[in-house]
Amino acid sequence: MLRAPWGRPRGSERDAEDARAVHLMVAAPDGTALAVGRLHRLDDVTGQIRYMAVAPHARGRGLGRRMLFALEDRARTLGLRRLVLDAREAAAGFYLRHGYRALGEGHVLFGTIRHLRMEKLLAPEART
Ligand SMILES: CC(C)(COP(=O)(O)OP(=O)(O)OC[C@H]1O[C@@H](n2cnc3c(N)ncnc32)[C@H](O)[C@@H]1OP(=O)(O)O)[C@@H](O)C(=O)NCCC(=O)NCCS
Repeated sequence: MLRAPWGRPRGSERDAEDARAVHLMVAAPDGTALAVGRLHRLDDVTGQIRYMAVAPHARGRGLGRRMLFALEDRARTLGLRRLVLDAREAAAGFYLRHGYRALGEGHVLFGTIRHLRMEKLLAPEART
């Protein structure tokens, strides 16, 4: 979902944080991935969310929100108080809707996908 449409091979979605990151997935009864997301620690109080995606046929049913809140709950459990992420321009509204604010322009992926760097200060209580 995040790489194949740009001709990137399976495996190009991996990075050096994978081994120590929290990986969450919502699966259909047959095991097919419907939603994925990843959280890794940047410092004592800050975490970063990456690789958030919901399968095209499963979008608009609240899975993205549940995945985001589940990652935020994990962050609280780890003692993190702030989350950052680089939102694809088309997804920035989704994060704004869930309490993130834009900090400024981020990187441009594959020469075309513009990103906004965003952050959210975590309230102590869980939302899931
Ligand atoms: C962005 C994405 C994760 C949202 O997942 P989703 O399951 O469709 O979202 P939800 O159904 O949980 O939506 C929750 C709310 O956010 C809103 N929303 C969802 N996508 C949105 C978007 N792109 N822009 C603005 N609002 C959005 C929904 O309308 C809904 O609003 P509501 O509270 O009024 O009901 C999904 O569209 C996706 O995987 N996109 C492609 C990959 C991608 O861009 N990932 C993010 C990389 S940074």
